[in-house]
Amino acid sequence: MAEYIGSVDQGTTSTRFIIFDHKGQIAGVDQKEHEQIFPKPGWVEHDPVEIWKNTKEVIAGALEKNNISGADIAAIGITNQRESVVVWDKKTGKPYYNAIVWQCTRTHEICRELIKEKGQNRFRDKTGLPVATYFSGPKIKWILDNVPDARKAAENGSALFGTMETWLIWWLTGGPDNGAHVTDVTNASRTLLMDLNTLKWDKEILSTLNIPEKALARIVPSGDPDAWGMTLENGPFKAKIPVCGALGDQQAALVGQTCFKAGEAKNTYGTGCFLLLNTGHTPVPSRQGLITTLAYQFGSNQPVYCLEGSIAIAGALVQWLRDNLGLISNAAEIEELAKTVDDNGGAYFVPAFSGLFAPYWRADARGTITGLTSYVNKGHIARAVLEANAFQAKDIVEAMRKDSGVELSMLKVDGGMVVNDLLMQFQSDILNVPVIRPQVSETTALGAAYAAGLSIGFWSGPDELSKNWAVDKIWSPSMKDHKRAKLYHDWKKAVERTFDWVE
Ligand code: G3P
Repeated sequence: MAEYIGSVDQGTTSTRFIIFDHKGQIAGVDQKEHEQIFPKPGWVEHDPVEIWKNTKEVIAGALEKNNISGADIAAIGITNQRESVVVWDKKTGKPYYNAIVWQCTRTHEICRELIKEKGQNRFRDKTGLPVATYFSGPKIKWILDNVPDARKAAENGSALFGTMETWLIWWLTGGPDNGAHVTDVTNASRTLLMDLNTLKWDKEILSTLNIPEKALARIVPSGDPDAWGMTLENGPFKAKIPVCGALGDQQAALVGQTCFKAGEAKNTYGTGCFLLLNTGHTPVPSRQGLITTLAYQFGSNQPVYCLEGSIAIAGALVQWLRDNLGLISNAAEIEELAKTVDDNGGAYFVPAFSGLFAPYWRADARGTITGLTSYVNKGHIARAVLEANAFQAKDIVEAMRKDSGVELSMLKVDGGMVVNDLLMQFQSDILNVPVIRPQVSETTALGAAYAAGLSIGFWSGPDELSKNWAVDKIWSPSMKDHKRAKLYHDWKKAVERTFDWVE
């Protein structure tokens, strides 16, 4: 059998292709950023054609740089930024509009109308989600209502809808020439259109949003022994390889961190920050503003669910400090700047740039910096930026404890920001539990590789995968209780200041 599994990681800011060996170690990688398009305040788009082009380039790049050929790859998995949607023409592959990105708030009005009629939780029992601009369904509706010809095409069967994994799988397996039109259960669970229990599109919600079912993809398991299609000999792999694994990026990280038992959790610090707790085979409803979502489903096994705390802005705040304020010239500098001071000097930064997601779900919130005095300098601001990530995660852990009754005994972490010692120590201090970073921190791509590899028997099962996981570093809490309580109390006050900014 070929000795590697390939994983496409299509994230919010870049696309990567990573090649993994049997031990889950990285054998090759290539990465390319794509343009962030901001047509209006609060609107975020990506060019799906650029993303497909970048995908082909990083696949070719990783193979070439490491002298690996398509024939050495046994299967392909895909992981992706979730909720972002594309609508395209089935015959040409041409998108009707740019991809509307998960962070985009343009569906505020659509959501407000839905909420006005029957409340924010009107679809929660079926979908596990509140009505919010974050999810795909209202984004699809916006395209159908606003882009000329899109609705007609969707109704007559000439347009296809998809989240990013659907778009890429379609192209990788042939595109207009019979490409597979599928979405995995984890991505489908983010649309606000899928019933969590039946794992089928919900006809009643589709009719409320006026979305024609025929344009939606077929829902499939995250790892599927019946491959959805094969890559093409004249495609970027120059070989026929089964495409048989897909997971939304946060669920992929849960799998990559081998959180296979109920009660195990991970937190990923990427563009946003997403804390997922495995709750086993039963969906646990949330009363604390978390969401109930699919964790993974391998083949015909029972699906596994999780509770998720979604935070819209994490690493994106560091980027904003770099690109919009010029306070640092690269992301790594933030730690140096934050280390020039001993604490936040009383400043708190709540990055509600896309409103606030979990556990608040306030589309009317906007970002704020509070506690400013003449004493505060740029070091304190840098520190407040880093601390914001840890406080937001604390909000989620508190909600999870109330919802599930599970007291977190440690937190597995991954994502770009876990190289930041100051943040990881502060996270451990604020949560009062050890924070643990694994040796392979590319857990997202690894999770998708695992989903694909399990499907073809490259790995025997979760137990074998768990043996691949190893600790790299542990941060232990060392903050006094009264200090922790005071800091968190002030953070909560700062959060309240962000509400009611948008009508
Ligand atoms: O739900 C959005 C999430 O999937 C985005 O992840 O890593 O691209 O910030 P990331």
